[in-house]
Amino acid sequence: MKRGLFITFEGADGCGKSTQLNMLAEYLTKKGFEVVVTREPGAKGLGEKIREILLNYEGDVSDRCESFLFLADRAQHIDMIVNPAVEAGKIVLCDRHTDSSVAYQGYGRQLPVERIKRLNEIAVNGRHPDLTLIFDIDVETSMRRVGQEKDRMESAGTEFFNRVREGYLEIAKQEPKRVKVLDASKSIDEIHADVIKLFEELLKK
Ligand code: TYD
Repeated sequence: MKRGLFITFEGADGCGKSTQLNMLAEYLTKKGFEVVVTREPGAKGLGEKIREILLNYEGDVSDRCESFLFLADRAQHIDMIVNPAVEAGKIVLCDRHTDSSVAYQGYGRQLPVERIKRLNEIAVNGRHPDLTLIFDIDVETSMRRVGQEKDRMESAGTEFFNRVREGYLEIAKQEPKRVKVLDASKSIDEIHADVIKLFEELLKK
């Protein structure tokens, strides 16, 4: 493989995407692919500092400032980690990316969605995922999985997470080629099989 692949994993908190990301990473590594596992916010280096602010800062954070912090993290991540790996022929599996900003800051916080998309374009500078997997689950189940210990984002409430879910489904409707929705209420192994199927389809393209 000359150019690598960039695959993003999306969904509400507690949807199980991180488990699936790690399972796919293991599967692909066994098959001999070179895999890079990464995330937004909080990739190695500066990303870890930005993540700390975003999830744990206890004072007030304006919705616009929150958006820019996620975008700053994204620009750093694309330039320093994603692009070099994809250009070196690796498969990059990324836990959250641009669609999280559209779903959380756009739909969740109700900032103008088109503006978030434009800012995303600036942050990614031409790099787009080859495939995006959205792990869809009802809000009650995902909140139960998150449990009592909630970070700043997870504390946003049920209404917020209903809008986030709606946002993700809208993204999938608008970009059916790139974005695939998986039923995250199935068993872990069933979902893993669905993920592999979508990956194989991508390879055939
Ligand atoms: P994280 O602990 O990584 O959540 P998860 O394990 O569910 O991915 O925290 C990331 C949080 O940041 C999560 O609540 C989603 C939120 N987020 C945004 O609101 N906008 C964004 O652009 C990104 C990347 C994440």
